[in-house]
Amino acid sequence: MTIPTIQHFAEYKTPFYYYDLELLDKTLRVAADEAARHGFHLHYALKANANARLLAVIRERGLGADCVSGNEVAAAIASGFRAGEIVYAGVGKSDEEIRLALGENIGCFNCESFPELEVINDIAGSLGKTARVSLRVNPNVDAHTHHYITTGIEENKFGFPLEQLERAARACLQLPRVEWRGIHFHVGSQIADMRVFQQLCAKANAIQEELLANGLAPTSVNFGGGLGIDYENPDEQPVPAFADYFQTFAKHFARLPGQQVHFEPGRAIAAQCGTLVARVLYVKEGTRKKFAILDAGMNDLIRPALYQARHRIENLTARPGDVEPYDVVGPVCESADCFGKDVLLPPTRRGDVIAIRSCGAYGEVMASRYNLRPLPGARFSND
Ligand code: LLP
Repeated sequence: MTIPTIQHFAEYKTPFYYYDLELLDKTLRVAADEAARHGFHLHYALKANANARLLAVIRERGLGADCVSGNEVAAAIASGFRAGEIVYAGVGKSDEEIRLALGENIGCFNCESFPELEVINDIAGSLGKTARVSLRVNPNVDAHTHHYITTGIEENKFGFPLEQLERAARACLQLPRVEWRGIHFHVGSQIADMRVFQQLCAKANAIQEELLANGLAPTSVNFGGGLGIDYENPDEQPVPAFADYFQTFAKHFARLPGQQVHFEPGRAIAAQCGTLVARVLYVKEGTRKKFAILDAGMNDLIRPALYQARHRIENLTARPGDVEPYDVVGPVCESADCFGKDVLLPPTRRGDVIAIRSCGAYGEVMASRYNLRPLPGARFSND
């Protein structure tokens, strides 16, 4: 990631997200090439970042879209994603959202419950349409990641429990306005250990065999997202391990002849190209600590407060002197408003420019107006 010089930022009001669109494009090229090697289809997960400037670059590289709300479907369409390459997941799709997605003729609904299947069937009937549907299955694979972003173990709200899958597939075949496509998984996010994906393949193989034994052949399988990135050393591995990732599925998933294989990467596409840029408002000496108080807070980037996530923090204002530990905090009235404890920084002063790295995914899109603070701005490398 190329971060411009401090002079470049001097005129900009902080805080803002800075996006290196060249790195985004390079990441997309690698992801698309490695997927194409195996004939896999990619759908970018808009939930990671739906900034229109990023969406334009992502669409240019030919990815489809993975959406979780009617507004995301609308944003994908507005950015030029082809409707037939949009997939739409979520446990709580409203009637209005389903109507919108059917109206746009999206590629596939990833369905999560029996009542949802019926509602989709009814609304499709009333619109004179047929809905293509995949069934999201909860495969009970532990992603070994933060519990808020683990989605594939038994006790959470996502997907059909495994033992209901066959019944769900039969329900699809009976519903006149539903066309059953296959199965969908997503076991969690920020997964760096390829063994988790190997386990997912093994589960998918077993599930598929069982379905086939019962005369049910999925024509499509979707493995969701989840590929992790290197938050500690963003400059050493700016482009995530797409080759290993897709290779794992090519090797361990027993693909049926002619079967389509889909993925929904979010973080792996968008995270490393984004940096939250802030200024130091005050340096406060505590009893035992020094606090660097920024003009960015948890409303701008909530990941550290919500998931105890660690982002690399750098002082872009180069200063001579040895590094020392600072607690880097925001101005919001919550103790959780802390970006990092004991972060080693060079001697830091009021006005210094701070970069919080690897923020392109689940950063800007999760910003809020808490404390009635303004939303952060956005700047782009090609402005
Ligand atoms: N597909 C589905 C069905 C998902 O639920 C998700 C993410 C993705 C794809 C994209 O996953 P990714 O490739 O980004 O791992 N806000 C949290 C992450 C929440 C992920 C939710 N689902 C964070 O900041 O870490």
